[in-house]
Amino acid sequence: MNYRRLGKSDMHVSEISLGTWQVGGGWGGSFDPKAANRIIRSAIDAGINFIDTADVYDAGLSEAAVGKVLETYSQKIFVATKCGRQIQPHINTGYQPEVLRRYVEASLRNMKLETIDLIQLHCPPTEVYSRPEIFGEFVKLKEEGKIQHLGVSVEKVGEAKAALAFDNVTTVQIIFNMFRQKPAEEFFAIAKERDCGIIVRVPLASGLLAGKMDETSVFKPEDHRTFNRNGEAFDKGETFSGVDFEIGLHAVSALKKRLGIEQELAAAALRWILMFPEVGTVIPGASSPGQVLANIRAAELPHFNEYQMQVVSEVYAEFLKDSIHPLW
Ligand SMILES: NC(=O)c1ccc[n+]([C@@H]2O[C@H](COP(=O)([O-])OP(=O)(O)OC[C@H]3O[C@@H](n4cnc5c(N)ncnc54)[C@H](OP(=O)(O)O)[C@@H]3O)[C@@H](O)[C@H]2O)c1
Repeated sequence: MNYRRLGKSDMHVSEISLGTWQVGGGWGGSFDPKAANRIIRSAIDAGINFIDTADVYDAGLSEAAVGKVLETYSQKIFVATKCGRQIQPHINTGYQPEVLRRYVEASLRNMKLETIDLIQLHCPPTEVYSRPEIFGEFVKLKEEGKIQHLGVSVEKVGEAKAALAFDNVTTVQIIFNMFRQKPAEEFFAIAKERDCGIIVRVPLASGLLAGKMDETSVFKPEDHRTFNRNGEAFDKGETFSGVDFEIGLHAVSALKKRLGIEQELAAAALRWILMFPEVGTVIPGASSPGQVLANIRAAELPHFNEYQMQVVSEVYAEFLKDSIHPLW
């Protein structure tokens, strides 16, 4: 495993890390703590030292599972969690400093931690990015030792840019993958200049880029890949990274054929992300320890050459750019 410094922070994190939205079995279905435990342990034992969770994942059970595993390790494992999505209705005025403070304190209790390495605003409404009192509250929380760093998780490149107006924003979590390339074009240079750490989420376009899906693939009713394909429950971009499923399958076939990849497309897709030095860490989600291990193989794969990088750009331009680029 290789490690990269996360922006201006003192965190040196594994370049492939772990996302835990689905860690207990899947997006709000029944939660299996043993399965969660196995997945998280397999990641740490393989060298991962950065774990992304959120207070709303499985109503706190994901956070609790992470906290429980951490009790059994002596080495430093960085924990990133998120706050804000419990606000109902999820609107700008619901975001108040004292509300967010309560969520942070609840996450500390839930994970049995004294401090949170990285707390992230969890894709708030766009207006929140222009409210100094919101960002100011996290300065206070840091002074009190309850958090170490603040980050934002964003839907759009414009939100990522807006968040950098606040000095205490250390990281930006954003969707970036072979099927979502705008951040590299319009945000990475700015992030580098500001020494902002980039955390890449949904790197496999919800599994599409693992190359295992076809027209007959079905998902459980509680899985967002069933119910959020058109953004029915939350931003459409979180599901298959906003790509129409059928078009995505064609784009995957083209990638496989033109790159000559039949096996390990997931690791290759992650390797492609690591080709960008501005990226601090990538947080693929995994529903089994085997997926964790397959994903960390990315760190060992040969680098993409110029021709292969060109192929990925061409596939994106041919199948996806017109529908994806303007939206996020
Ligand atoms: N708003 C936010 O801040 C936000 C939103 C979304 C996600 N996130 C974070 O980002 C993380 C990653 O996003 P994500 O999980 O939605 O998308 P993802 O990482 O693109 O896709 C994860 C899915 O891909 C499949 N997969 C993973 N590794 C595989 C492998 N080696 N071989 C075959 N299939 C593999 C699994 O699907 P199956 O389950 O079907 O096997 C897994 O559930 C989340 O866990 C979460 O921590 C944050």
